[in-house]
Amino acid sequence: MACSFPSNARHTSCWTAYDSLSSESTVRPFCVPAKWPQQAPHARRRSHEVGDYHQARPCTTDPGPIACLPHTPPVKAGWAVSAGTRMPNGLRIGNLDLDVPFYQAPLSGYSDRAMRRLARRFGCPLTFTGVLLDKVALHRGAMRKLHLQPVPEESPVGAQILGADPQTMAQAAAVLEQVGFCAIDLNFACPAPKVLRRGRGGALLDHPRRILEIYQRVRDAVSVPVLVKLRIGVDSGPASREGFWEICERLASERPDALVIHGRTVGKMYRGRADWALLGEVKQRFTDQIIIGSGDLMTPQDVARRIHTSGLDGVAIARGAIGNPWIFRDCRALLAGQAPAPPPTLEEVGEVMLQHLEWILELYPEHKAVPFFRKFAAHYSKRHPRRKAALPDLMAAKTAEQVRQAIRHWFNGQAEECPA
Ligand SMILES: Cc1cc2nc3c(=O)[nH]c(=O)nc-3n(C[C@H](O)[C@H](O)[C@H](O)COP(=O)(O)O)c2cc1C
Repeated sequence: MACSFPSNARHTSCWTAYDSLSSESTVRPFCVPAKWPQQAPHARRRSHEVGDYHQARPCTTDPGPIACLPHTPPVKAGWAVSAGTRMPNGLRIGNLDLDVPFYQAPLSGYSDRAMRRLARRFGCPLTFTGVLLDKVALHRGAMRKLHLQPVPEESPVGAQILGADPQTMAQAAAVLEQVGFCAIDLNFACPAPKVLRRGRGGALLDHPRRILEIYQRVRDAVSVPVLVKLRIGVDSGPASREGFWEICERLASERPDALVIHGRTVGKMYRGRADWALLGEVKQRFTDQIIIGSGDLMTPQDVARRIHTSGLDGVAIARGAIGNPWIFRDCRALLAGQAPAPPPTLEEVGEVMLQHLEWILELYPEHKAVPFFRKFAAHYSKRHPRRKAALPDLMAAKTAEQVRQAIRHWFNGQAEECPA
């Protein structure tokens, strides 16, 4: 069996572009079959279970659509969202049948298993990993890492990959499907300079034919749904806009399971406002194509407004979900025309923070988990009326026990007895 791992490949991951915990220094290349089993492009199979991908074999019968309703049992009363009435406008992505038209977007350095489990617990029907470099997925060591494998508590979860070589991308997608990811999202949107310099992510928006080739190779290599993540161009010049339309046209003629479009150019990174009018125009031009929008969805009201007014099939919630899993519960209520639940009490926020910390500690050693959790603590503490006093305490905690103590102190009422 020939080793198809590129011998001169540098093992770097896009995750580091966003300060993730992922480190590839310990991973080693392994051999993958030179020819992966080719399956009919649209043959879909159920692949939520985690398994050893060396043993995994495709199902021969099509299980039909997978209904993605929340099913995880609650840890504590009042936390979880139970499977309710199906929303009139769910979202179908290949064989994934979401009961609501939103999901959690890939968020490098954030959307690890701990965040995905919380999202699921609060009613998010589908989540994604942060972007993973294709070459990393082709390392046995990387796939063994706990936080890279999906588990039933978070399923269904999709994987997002980044790369510029069609064959490597196809092989990476096949590996990720075999370890249990239920969808593959192709990243042609990442604006990190390090990624662009290597001709990956958003840089590929200047190369429509390469994007198409990567999509076709990946689609032929897997049977799970394939999504394509784009931005609205490299910059706002006319040539770039023309290139964007060309990409949409070429892709739409191939009917990927979804086009996910962040309404900013690569050059804008996260500045300015996302152009939802343009996203609406994409849907008007390609009515038969599933189009999912992304950009500036910070509150349940933003989500509901875009779903109701953009004409798109669905939306991906990103920054609005960091330290705020309640957004999924509240979006469900709003879309169902129900009164929103009251905001979580400080005690409830504290409980969720403690659970989030424990799940992070399951994934990483304490010296990495504690600083990693600080990023979330900064967001959770936005709900605290005395944030300016609470945050320094949370940030100063050096051990997991100190973090727990700070959370209990500030979020269970004890702090009210303390001088400000
Ligand atoms: C910290 C951070 C990490 C991100 N990581 C990814 C990623 O790995 N893959 C991806 O396609 N988009 C990534 N994005 C982009 C988001 O998925 C989303 O498209 C973008 O933030 C716009 O949505 P928002 O304005 O509602 O946050 C990231 C964004 C942020 C802020």
